[in-house]
Amino acid sequence: MEKPEQKKTEALAAIAAAETLDALEAQRVAALGKQGWISALLKTLGAMSPEERQAQGPKIHSLREEVQSALADRKAALEQAALDARLAAETLDLSLPAPESPRGSVHPIGQVMDELAEIFADLGFSVATGPEIEDDWHNFTALNMPESHPARAMHDTFYFPDTAPNGGRMLLRTHTSPVQVRTMKAHGAPVRIIAPGRVYRSDSDATHTPMFHQVEGLVIDKGIHLGHLKWTLETFLKAFFEREDIVLRLRPSYFPFTEPSVEVDVGFAIENGRRVLGGSGDAPGHGWMELLGSGMVNRRVIEMSGLDPDVWQGFAFGVGVDRLAMLKYGMDDLRAFFDGDVRWLRHYGFSAFDQPTISGGIGATGGGARA
Ligand code: PHE
Repeated sequence: MEKPEQKKTEALAAIAAAETLDALEAQRVAALGKQGWISALLKTLGAMSPEERQAQGPKIHSLREEVQSALADRKAALEQAALDARLAAETLDLSLPAPESPRGSVHPIGQVMDELAEIFADLGFSVATGPEIEDDWHNFTALNMPESHPARAMHDTFYFPDTAPNGGRMLLRTHTSPVQVRTMKAHGAPVRIIAPGRVYRSDSDATHTPMFHQVEGLVIDKGIHLGHLKWTLETFLKAFFEREDIVLRLRPSYFPFTEPSVEVDVGFAIENGRRVLGGSGDAPGHGWMELLGSGMVNRRVIEMSGLDPDVWQGFAFGVGVDRLAMLKYGMDDLRAFFDGDVRWLRHYGFSAFDQPTISGGIGATGGGARA
């Protein structure tokens, strides 16, 4: 055993001197690997006589244990040293302020849509949606505008070359009214929904953009009449504009999908050269502004949506969301809504932490428009 004792002393010295985990692993392989000298030593036990094995066995095993524990100790020491070095080198100064305050803001359209959802939720309405890529059956035919109807031409529709699955033409919806049909078909009656979303018309100037936003309202139930429509619109507009003196004027009008149809004007006064909503438009210095279209849902529409018009009646309205935002928050050019100019967004945008609520206030206070 002279030779193994000497090899052991050498191995323990080399293990103690190993500076890296790789160097240490090389020492382990040299001693305990398949070709290692300790493994070779263990193999010699098989060829020994029983007496010899009894004398040599314990020596070889304790030698192996000594080397094994030296390897384990050195490994632990190297790992601890590596961790200490990392802890000393890596620092994170949590006392530093963030480089810039948050810059994102809620777009006035998103803000107004949140306000509408909140106001109508309080009246028991839920929010419905429909596709922006529609077919002409939902956008026109089911709304009582058959193929040859002149109102179709008035909508400046963007058509797709594709044919719809139902055989008609595909188009970008020109209003949110097709959601009326989709909701009645999908859920039956009664219905109490608003449907906010994007609509498209081939039209462009200071007050028209090819894409704009509408919110549709639909109530279907038994015994619904014009009084319900008027009360709902008055309650909605008073809550939205946060004024009790909002006065509405209902004028007879025409939409193919409502009968009778009612155009709704809202009274305004001129203050400091600007229109301010409130009061009767007939008062001296006041006027009326056209705000939205509405009416009792045409029985043909109720029928085409799969309901019995002798049982179910209702009212519907549609209003421009962008226009509501401009009136409430004082922007005068619609095109700026869609320019994505960060200066405009910073000025007219709202804080994401300023959610409209019935109890806390529908009008946002954090927006630049009020600052
Ligand atoms: N869809 C109509 C438009 O875009 C508005 C409207 C909706 C009118 C519902 C009456 C009822 O002009």
